[in-house]
Amino acid sequence: MIIAIDGPAGSGKSTIAKELANELDFVYLDTGAMYRLVTLKALNEKISFDSLKNIVDLSENKNNNSDFEIIQNMKKILENLNIDIKKNRFFLDEIDVSDEIRKPVVSENVSNVAKIKQVREKLVGLQRKFSKSKNVILDGRDIGTVVFPNAELKIFLVADAMERAKRRYKELILKNEDITLDEIYKNILERDKIDSTRKESPLVKAQDAFEIDTTFKTIEEVKDDIKSLLRKSAK
Ligand code: DC
Repeated sequence: MIIAIDGPAGSGKSTIAKELANELDFVYLDTGAMYRLVTLKALNEKISFDSLKNIVDLSENKNNNSDFEIIQNMKKILENLNIDIKKNRFFLDEIDVSDEIRKPVVSENVSNVAKIKQVREKLVGLQRKFSKSKNVILDGRDIGTVVFPNAELKIFLVADAMERAKRRYKELILKNEDITLDEIYKNILERDKIDSTRKESPLVKAQDAFEIDTTFKTIEEVKDDIKSLLRKSAK
């Protein structure tokens, strides 16, 4: 069985998905973390993100020399991608980078990596493989629309942008990150824009998804809403 939880950054997807998976004895897959792993790899390889911003398809013929080089480097990164997920810890080239992928520098650049067609194809393939013959809760942006359009239950979480920024701010301050609420708010708005307007699998609610606004709800309330939808969908 597949439960798809989609929605914008900070809408509560990962907290809700993780706790529900524990309670229902499902496996949890955080697909955003996979896009973050590829972004971290590209940052480590010193890919120029200023130029990468303009690239959405690695099979395009770019005349510009620097773009050509970036496309070749991104292709190499995807061909040799070595990522792994064990017990909700994330590994890049065998190293646990679970904390590093949450850093602001990754958040600032991940949407531009996630809009590249071949990055999506590669990660969607891995997501389907990972979920084969298991009960899985996946969270992301395109789970109910593209990765698992036949998922048994589809949830679309939304929340006010400032409330989402405050949630992220609290998390990052606890990790001693040097960042302001305003910076996070701007990053969230920018990511919403890139994620929902991109050509490949944009962030949209699947027609048959249930929308839950989490702005004024507690985690428990949202989980209860989803559990009751689950009971109804099983009937
Ligand atoms: O959920 P998150 O904030 O960790 O996701 C990071 C980025 O990855 C997000 O800005 C868009 C992208 N993403 C995506 O395009 N598709 C997914 N299924 C999950 C995340």
